[in-house]
Amino acid sequence: MFVPQNKITSSRIFLIKIEKSFNMAQKHYTEVHRSLPELSPWLEWATPQYKIEDSYEYILKCHQEWDKGQDYTYAINNHLDNFMGTISVFNIKEKDKSIEFGYWISTQYAGNGYMQEAVSLLEKEFFNMGINRIVIHTDVLNLKSANVAVKRGFTLEGIQRQKTWFEAEQRYRDINTFSKLKKEYQEI
Ligand SMILES: CC(C)(COP(=O)(O)OP(=O)(O)OC[C@H]1O[C@@H](n2cnc3c(N)ncnc32)[C@H](O)[C@@H]1OP(=O)(O)O)[C@@H](O)C(=O)NCCC(=O)NCCS
Repeated sequence: MFVPQNKITSSRIFLIKIEKSFNMAQKHYTEVHRSLPELSPWLEWATPQYKIEDSYEYILKCHQEWDKGQDYTYAINNHLDNFMGTISVFNIKEKDKSIEFGYWISTQYAGNGYMQEAVSLLEKEFFNMGINRIVIHTDVLNLKSANVAVKRGFTLEGIQRQKTWFEAEQRYRDINTFSKLKKEYQEI
């Protein structure tokens, strides 16, 4: 089993196993709601109806999954301990040594390179643990998310045409598959 550290630090940010508390749920809920215009086009759960109870349930689920070694969700915090967003490791395939990343950042902290830094920290953590392949999926229209993958040196493998149905926008999504292999990984 690939079990990462609960806390991973760089000069500007730290990633920490998302805390199971009502206080954390409040922070999560607040940043989601502040960022709804930027999140809702890409994350189906990010709607005006999203409730603080949803944040709390989400955090509980993250804990259960972490403890079972299924998914690993980190809060991304700056060094003032402000919660800025999350990055998750999921779709873990033990045999294939393959994982996937998913992420969002609150609008007030976007555009500062924090997500590239978070991805970089988890690349280091998981490639050093023996993972061979990391995947990032993005809607082809989501240029900011693709930018994170491209800037981190991920390769666009192709586009899965009309992969999913997006009910809120009544459209199919075309999905980019980006990947990075251990042999392509260079620590920066
Ligand atoms: C996708 C998403 C996480 C990208 O966040 P972001 O803050 O734009 O990502 P980055 O960390 O790459 O920061 C981008 C910009 O910060 C700036 N930047 C980068 N490094 C920096 C540094 N060290 N210091 C200051 N600024 C820096 C740059 O302008 C950079 O853009 P560039 O690489 O084109 O030059 C964010 O737009 C988001 O949460 N979107 C909604 C949810 C979503 O789409 N999630 C992904 C679903 S697949």
